[in-house]
Amino acid sequence: MAKRSSYNSNGKLDKEPEKVKISKESLKETLLLFTYLKPYKTKFFLSLIFIALSAFSTMIFPLLLGKMIDAAAPGVKVNLPQSQMSGGFGGFDLKTVQWSLNTIILLLFLQLTVQMVFSFMRIYLLTEVGERSLADMRKDLYGKLISQPMSFFSEQRVGELSSRISNDLSQIQDAISFTLAEFLRGIFTLVIGLSFIFWISTELALVMLSVVPMVAIVAVVFGMRIRKMARKAQDQLADSGNIVQETFSGISVVKAFTAESNEMKRYTKSIFSVVDTAIGNARYRGAFVSFMIFSVFGAISFVMWYGAKMIQTSELSTGELTMFVIFSAFVGGTFAGFADMFSNLQKTLGATQRVRELLRTEGEPVILDDRIIKPAHIIKGEVEFKDVKFSYPSRKDIQVLKGINLKVKEGEQIALVGPSGAGKSTIASLLLKFYDQESGSILFDGIPSHDFQLTELRSQMAFVPQDVILFGGSIKENIAYGNQEASDEQIEEAARKANAQEFISKFPEGFETIVGERGVKLSGGQRQRIAIARAILKNPAILILDEATSSLDSESEQLVQEALERLMKGRTSFVIAHRLSTVRNANQIVVIDKGIVQETGTHEALIQSESGLYKRLVEMQFDWK
Ligand SMILES: Nc1ncnc2c1ncn2[C@@H]1O[C@H](COP(=O)(O)OP(=O)(O)O)[C@@H](O)[C@H]1O
Ligand SMILES: [Mg+2]
Repeated sequence: MAKRSSYNSNGKLDKEPEKVKISKESLKETLLLFTYLKPYKTKFFLSLIFIALSAFSTMIFPLLLGKMIDAAAPGVKVNLPQSQMSGGFGGFDLKTVQWSLNTIILLLFLQLTVQMVFSFMRIYLLTEVGERSLADMRKDLYGKLISQPMSFFSEQRVGELSSRISNDLSQIQDAISFTLAEFLRGIFTLVIGLSFIFWISTELALVMLSVVPMVAIVAVVFGMRIRKMARKAQDQLADSGNIVQETFSGISVVKAFTAESNEMKRYTKSIFSVVDTAIGNARYRGAFVSFMIFSVFGAISFVMWYGAKMIQTSELSTGELTMFVIFSAFVGGTFAGFADMFSNLQKTLGATQRVRELLRTEGEPVILDDRIIKPAHIIKGEVEFKDVKFSYPSRKDIQVLKGINLKVKEGEQIALVGPSGAGKSTIASLLLKFYDQESGSILFDGIPSHDFQLTELRSQMAFVPQDVILFGGSIKENIAYGNQEASDEQIEEAARKANAQEFISKFPEGFETIVGERGVKLSGGQRQRIAIARAILKNPAILILDEATSSLDSESEQLVQEALERLMKGRTSFVIAHRLSTVRNANQIVVIDKGIVQETGTHEALIQSESGLYKRLVEMQFDWK
C-alpha cells in the first residue's frame, strides 16, 4: 500500500487517492458511508430503478434493428427449430413475430423516447442524491476538523489535510453519482445482453463465449501492466520537472558557481531516462495494440464466420446475426469497462477509509451551532500555574515546560520574557487550553481549569498573536469576530479605542471594506489594531498578548502599544514581549528559560541583580540597538 505522490507540471504535490485492497473490512467501512444516503433513500432507489430500466431499454435497440433487417428480407429462415427461451405466451413469440418496416421504425422511436426519459431521470436523480449526501458529508467532516484539538493540527500539514479531504470527497462523490451507476448498468447490461445472446442462439453464444472472455482477460491484464509502466514514465518526467524548477528557483546559486554545465548534465541524464522508459513502454504498447487488433477482429471474424454458416444452413436469420453481434459488442464493452471500475472502487475504498477515520474521531467539546452558553463561573482574573509540566504530543521526548510556577492577581499585568524557544508561547497555549498539561495544575480564580467547560473558559479570554490573520469579509465582520451580537456603535467604539478608527475611515467603504485573501491588504500594524478592537469588543477577563508588537515598525508600534495599554487596563494580562522596553511597567516580570521560571520581580528589582538573566537580556538589547 505504498503512498504515491508525484509532482505535476507546476511542481505542486499532486496526490491521487490511494488504492486500497478490496477486503471485507474496507467494503464494510464504505457501506457505512451509505448512511448518508438515508435521507434521500426514496430518490436513490428510484434512480436505481431507472438505471435498470434504461439498461433494459438500451438492449431493445439491437433487437429492433435486427428485426428491421429481417423485415427487409423476410422468409430467409425456414424450419426454425423450437427455440429455448422464446417467450411464447398468448400466441406471441418475439422470436418469430414479423413486423412491417413501418411498425419497427415506430417501435424504434418509441423505444428511443422512453430511453430519453429513463436516462434523464437516472442522471438527474442520482446527481441530486450524490450532491446532497456529499454536502452533508462535507459539513460533518468540516465540523469534525474544526473541532479537532490543536495537537491534531500541529501533527498534520493543514494544506495537505484539506486538499486530501477534498480529493477524497470528490472520489466518493464520483463513486456515488458515476461509478455506482456505471457498475449497475454494467451488471444489468451483462445479464440482459447475455440472456439475449443465448436466446438468439445458444450454439453461437457458446462459440462466442469460448473466445471473447479469453481476449478480454488478456486485454485487462495487459492494460493494467501498461498503465503501471506509463506511470513510471510519468514519475520520471516529474523528476526532471523538479530539476528545472530547482535550478530556476536557485538560479543565482547556479550562476554564481558556474554550475550550468553540471545542471545541463543532470537534466539531460534525467530526460534520457524518460526516453528509455517510454521506448520500453512503446514496445509493450505496440505489442498490445497489435495483439488486440488481431485477437479482437479475429474473434469477430470467427464468430461472424460461424454465424454466417448458420445463416447458410438456415439456423439463423441475417437480422438475428446482426442483433447477436451488437449484443456481443455491448457485453464485451461492458466487460472491459469493469477493469476501470475495479481500480476506481479501490480508490474509493481508500478515500472512504480516511474520511471514516476522521468522522469517527472525537473532537473537542466545542459548540458548532448557534447556541450561546452563559458561563457558569464569571472569571475575575486570578490565574495560577502550579508546577506545570508539558511536552508537545508530537514530541513526547522533549519536555518544553519543566514545572512552571507563577501567580497573577486579578487585573494585574504579567510579562513573560526570555530567549526564543524558552516556552513562552507554550504557556499561552496552555492558558487557552489548546493542550492539556502533563502534570501540575492551572487555576482560574482558584478553580482548576479542568472544572471549566472548554467554551466557557475560552470565551472569557482574548488572544492577540504576533501575526494577525483576518478572515475574508468586511472590517466590521472581522472586529465582531469574537462577539457576533455587537452593534455598529459598539464596533466603532472598539475601533476607536484600538486606534483603528483613523485608518479605517480613510477607506472609501469604511467599515465595510473587504479584507483578507481577496480584499484590501492591511499592514501588520493595522491588522494588529483590528485584532485589538476584536479583543476590546470581546471584553475578556484575561488577555494574552504573544509578541503583539514584535514585527511592527516604531511608528505603528506606538499606536498599537497605546491601544494595548487601553485594552489591558483592569484585566489580567499576560504579555509576551520580545522588546523589553514594552514591559517595563508590568506588575510582574517572569523570566523564563529552558522551560522553568528563572527569575520573577518588577523591572526595578530584576535590574538590580548583577548576575541575573533579565539584566543580561536588557543589556544585550541595549547593545544591539
Ligand atoms: N507545536 C509544537 N510541537 C512540538 N514542539 C513545539 C511546538 N511548538 C513549539 N514547540 C517547541 O517548544 C519549545 C518552546 O516553544 P515556544 O513556547 O514557542 O517558545 P517561545 O515562545 O518562548 O519562543 C521550542 O523548543 C519549540 O521547538
Ligand atoms: Mg513564541
